[in-house]
Amino acid sequence: MFIVVEGIDGTGKSTLARMLGNYLRDRGCRVFLTEEPTDSWLGKAVRQGIEEEKNPFTQAFLFFADRAEHVNLIKKHLEIGEDVICDRYVYSTYAYQGAQLETQMSLPRALSWLEKLYEPIGLKPDMVFLLTVEPERGLRRIGSREKKEKFEREEFLKRVQEIYLLLAKKYDFAVVDSNRSLNEVYGEIVKLIDKQLEEKEK
Ligand code: TMP
Repeated sequence: MFIVVEGIDGTGKSTLARMLGNYLRDRGCRVFLTEEPTDSWLGKAVRQGIEEEKNPFTQAFLFFADRAEHVNLIKKHLEIGEDVICDRYVYSTYAYQGAQLETQMSLPRALSWLEKLYEPIGLKPDMVFLLTVEPERGLRRIGSREKKEKFEREEFLKRVQEIYLLLAKKYDFAVVDSNRSLNEVYGEIVKLIDKQLEEKEK
């Protein structure tokens, strides 16, 4: 199974992806936990692009370059029967770069361009969790981190989340309210994944 966890900064996404990985391992699954941007040199280039506030087109291409390589790695793990959990995937590009590109064009046009770029790479997840949080709360949660990424501004994140919610309808994400405690959110994710596993076993 290819599972993606998405959401704005401060949703607890990375922690929950790790917890979900451990849950599946306890159920006897072999799990490959991964993330975007990756830790390869392409992922480093992506982070540099963010740091230097490159224009949204440049950033979109950087994220896609990193992803194009990453998709090959994900496929290899799926082929040997592992479950893959990916902390951020193409929907991050749609939501974040979609929001950035709105300064240049309409959102539908931006999304259609990004979706076309992704189409030939196309590896479709079996399940996408979208974690939502009040942007202000999310920002407070990550406040203790040493180095703030440039993106982490409330207004921007509000818009990113709105776009995520539009994508949730279009791509049928499981939307999970992450304003609650970690354990509550984890409990809901586990319920949803169990349901998915049951359906697969039928
Ligand atoms: P991280 O905080 O999850 O490591 O992600 C780094 C930042 O990169 C985060 O603010 C979200 C942003 N991002 C995009 O803008 N587009 C993308 O496609 C991805 C994967 C991340």
